[in-house]
Amino acid sequence: MRIILFGPPGSGKGTQGDLIGRAYGFPKISTGDLLRQAVRDQTPLGKKAEKLMNQGQLVSDDIVEEMVRERISSPDCRRGYLLDGFPRTVRQARGLERMDGKKKEIVIEIEIRPDALAARLLGRRVCSRCGAIYNLDLNRLKQEGRCDLCGGSLVQRPDDHPDVIRERMRVYREQTEQVRDYYISKSVYRKVDGSGGVEEVFGRLKLLLDAELAGPEQRKARA
Ligand code: AP5
Repeated sequence: MRIILFGPPGSGKGTQGDLIGRAYGFPKISTGDLLRQAVRDQTPLGKKAEKLMNQGQLVSDDIVEEMVRERISSPDCRRGYLLDGFPRTVRQARGLERMDGKKKEIVIEIEIRPDALAARLLGRRVCSRCGAIYNLDLNRLKQEGRCDLCGGSLVQRPDDHPDVIRERMRVYREQTEQVRDYYISKSVYRKVDGSGGVEEVFGRLKLLLDAELAGPEQRKARA
């Protein structure tokens, strides 16, 4: 099984991806996280990606596809995996199909009013050690500026600044939204309402996933 979380920057893909990964035992693969790790390590790929990411532009399809190909070939992805932030272009969606076309897949868009996104992104802080996602407006931390899970320091992503956020939204509308039509045409597209609290949204996703993951017998019994 492959779960693809789809939606604009700040819609909650990373947050919900972590919860789904823990609840269903699928590794979460975030291309944003993989790229940020490469930037931190200052690998040749990371150096190439850094400038584009800080400007809110997409990294080239070739680079991202290669990263995903390598990651999904790991043994922990054999049973299934969850993708967050990939595919982001129709070319990437086709590339994924070529890499691993046999898995049953479900693409879930987290739908959210565009005017709610900027505030979420501006309030986001991430743990510099374990990558846990927080929001200054939502989370009461045990210790200010520190991750509740590992004690790492919380930082603001360099692309979570107003001008870069605007650019990321523009890039999403122009280059990524069309991926939705690709998956609608494959009849694997679903959507959930992304408004409300984190647990509320997760509840909606869980209902959908439980139904999708159930075998045909269980699905018939539910009908
Ligand atoms: P990436 O890291 O994928 O960023 P993104 O898609 O812009 O998405 P975000 O991580 O900003 O948001 P999210 O939806 O995960 O929201 P989150 O859960 O964190 O990509 C970064 C860059 O890498 C790209 O710009 C590009 O340069 C490059 N890149 C990555 N993938 C690529 C690809 N495939 N091809 C080419 N380039 C690629 O939540 C946001 C905030 O909201 C948090 O503070 C959270 O606590 C809060 N929040 C979450 N849910 C709720 C809720 N229900 N209510 C209130 N607050 C909430």
